[in-house]
Amino acid sequence: MEERITSIAQEILMRIPESPTLGIVLGSGLGDFADTFENPIYIPYDSLDGLPKSTVEGHKGQFVFGKIGGQYVMAMQGRFHYYEGYTMQEVTLPIRIMAKLGVLTVILTNAAGGVNLDFKPGDLMVISDHIHFVQSNPLIGPNLDAYGPRFPDTSSTYHKPYILMAQKIAQKLEMTLKEGVYFYFSGPNYETPAEIRMARFLGGDAVGMSTVPEAMVACHSGIKVLGISCITNCAAGILNQPLNHKEVIETADRIKQSFIQLMREIVLAIEV
Ligand code: HPA
Repeated sequence: MEERITSIAQEILMRIPESPTLGIVLGSGLGDFADTFENPIYIPYDSLDGLPKSTVEGHKGQFVFGKIGGQYVMAMQGRFHYYEGYTMQEVTLPIRIMAKLGVLTVILTNAAGGVNLDFKPGDLMVISDHIHFVQSNPLIGPNLDAYGPRFPDTSSTYHKPYILMAQKIAQKLEMTLKEGVYFYFSGPNYETPAEIRMARFLGGDAVGMSTVPEAMVACHSGIKVLGISCITNCAAGILNQPLNHKEVIETADRIKQSFIQLMREIVLAIEV
């Protein structure tokens, strides 16, 4: 895995003018933020040997490099999910590549179902913590000692000062930013109503099929993490209606402008 990480990182370095310091993973329907970068350089995943392909609708499947304020940013329009059949190591490979390229902070975004009954579709939530409810773990296997320890501490996976900063920025923008625990299911099916009741009982506020493996690997690599969920729907069983991907994409699309505004202010405020 280490060789794969290094060779992809080297290939990327040949195509960009400087090393990125900030990484951003853009979830379903949220990719447009990367189109606001100055002097963007697009690198499709399928142009890099050794990288999986992104197969999900609403995910473009490319890296976007560019400037926001003084920072050189590396964004992902589309990510890899465990439910696509990739190993957890493949799902998190881009985070390892980011670490190799010198990224110190990563912002992980996603579309998520609202478990907390106070949440409604269109809300944004800053992630305070997560529950890893999937058996497989990206840190299983030989430890990558060059990146982090065998037994990493995860008690502050989500960097508290960034959570506070995001709240302050939201306040300034007169936006409501919920805060809560992201509960990770593998998907690809949406959860059952009983699973959602369990997730709520166990302390989950939102559910989704991404982000947690990436947060774990970022944490292992010593990268500071900020997580932002777009609550695209009420989770299963809350409303008497079936869930579908179209609704997820439509809600993400509806709040796109406020998401982009919040993200931009956050990136400008993050000092790395
Ligand atoms: N469950 C899991 N993942 C999701 C959901 C959901 O309700 N909405 C968007 N991603």
